[in-house]
Amino acid sequence: MATATAATGAARTAALLLLALALALAPRASGAAGAGGGDCHFPAIFNFGDSNSDTGGLSSLFGAAPPPNGRTFFGMPAGRYCDGRLVIDFIAESLGIPHLSAYLNSIGSNFTQGANFATAGSSIRRQNTSLLLSGFSPISLDVQSWEFEQFINRSEYVYNNEGGIYRELLPRAEYFSQALYTFDIGQNDITSSYFVNNSTAEVEAIIPDLMERLTSIIQFVYARGGRYFWIHNTGPLGCLPYALLHRPDLAAPMDGAGCSVTYNKVAQLFNLRLKETVASLRKTHPDAAFTYVDVYTAKYKLISEAKKLGFNDPLLACCGHGGRYNFDLSIGCGGKKQVNGTWVMVGNSCEVPSKRVSWDGVHFTEAANKFVFDQIVAGALSDPPVPLKRACQSKGR
Ligand SMILES: *[C@@H]1O[C@H](CO)[C@@H](O)[C@H](O)[C@H]1NC(C)=O
Ligand SMILES: *[C@@H]1O[C@H](CO)[C@@H](O)[C@H](O)[C@H]1NC(C)=O
Ligand SMILES: *[C@@H]1O[C@H](CO)[C@@H](O)[C@H](O)[C@H]1NC(C)=O
Ligand SMILES: *[C@@H]1O[C@H](CO)[C@@H](O)[C@H](O)[C@H]1NC(C)=O
Ligand SMILES: *[C@@H]1O[C@H](CO)[C@@H](O)[C@H](O)[C@H]1NC(C)=O
Ligand SMILES: *[C@@H]1O[C@H](CO)[C@@H](O)[C@H](O)[C@H]1NC(C)=O
Repeated sequence: MATATAATGAARTAALLLLALALALAPRASGAAGAGGGDCHFPAIFNFGDSNSDTGGLSSLFGAAPPPNGRTFFGMPAGRYCDGRLVIDFIAESLGIPHLSAYLNSIGSNFTQGANFATAGSSIRRQNTSLLLSGFSPISLDVQSWEFEQFINRSEYVYNNEGGIYRELLPRAEYFSQALYTFDIGQNDITSSYFVNNSTAEVEAIIPDLMERLTSIIQFVYARGGRYFWIHNTGPLGCLPYALLHRPDLAAPMDGAGCSVTYNKVAQLFNLRLKETVASLRKTHPDAAFTYVDVYTAKYKLISEAKKLGFNDPLLACCGHGGRYNFDLSIGCGGKKQVNGTWVMVGNSCEVPSKRVSWDGVHFTEAANKFVFDQIVAGALSDPPVPLKRACQSKGR
């Protein structure tokens, strides 16, 4: 793969340049997040979620996301199930914060300006099964909140008592109340329920429990100082090849974009309840700011208008192995198959990932993530409609 290696070198150089730029732009002095009319100056981001925002958590625990993941931007696997950057990476860049290190990654991490507790396959509820059996992560949202508490306690102790290099690797104590707390979770609660053949009524019936749990985790973060919350809703799951192949019975009725109407209705119900949940948190915590961000609409626009927006077949995975969606439930992106006694990589990348919406049948490409980020950054899809840079102002009435 000579051409891929050349592209890889160039991508790495570009990555280093961009990282240097991000570091140069990072705010030096802490400066409390202002509540006036100006920008907020968040000094850090703490993220909770699933693969939509995992920057290395699952890779640290269960083995690295294999190549060709990371090929477009990082030039090598970078703990993300994507060819490049995720929406959370674009959020960090735009706030002048370096890409978030995964809390679980003990090698080379720098938590000065935040930490990422998300792992691919995470759900709000605990899974009563193993990752090796079902593919869902044991790092559910409650576990992420315990990690966060441990992170606060330990980092404060180590920063003050050990000092030295740790002062260049850990956040200042005041960052915890000034940081932006981002959430993107719920997709795996819906899919894990559908994947054990639960009916739509059974899946819908768990939504109130999901909202209660999410509320209590946000209150837990609030009790430890968090004040600025940026909460993504869930995407149009019925447009994802893996969801369709796991439940072929739900593929019809299909909408004009080729998405499952049933799946998307459940995602929309989840989102309606989430929006109400965030509104009620805003009422009960008037000194905190909560922004509900409708990524569903951004993703659905991209999928339903893909051709017009310069992408090709939005349901065809770039990296995969055969079938209608170039997606195979048993051989994923980077997957290998034994041919005449030798293992051969068959889960290869397409030539031009930037023309694809779906990276691997489950996750979006960097180009798609950039599109989503561009749709949400100015606040057009948020409640209240504040831009990312002013998310410290989404306060209660
Ligand atoms: C796992 O089991 C517990 C206890 O029975 C239950 O509360 C929880 O909802 C279950 N989780 C899932 C994903 O089914
Ligand atoms: C963190 O510190 C608080 C206050 O000292 C304590 O109550 C809590 O148990 C600690 N949590 C962890 C996870 O160590
Ligand atoms: C960690 O990142 C911060 C910027 O977020 C930087 O100032 C610091 O020097 C970095 N630490 C190390 C050890 O490189
Ligand atoms: C499936 O539905 C049952 C209720 O019939 C519920 O108890 C269970 O938690 C659901 N499973 C998942 C994984 O959501
Ligand atoms: C769900 O139903 C399908 C089709 O009947 C079956 O093949 C599959 O094994 C079932 N999955 C589970 C987890 O029960
Ligand atoms: C596997 O070996 C057989 C017999 O030598 C050969 O005909 C076939 O083309 C080989 N398949 C591949 C994919 O190399």
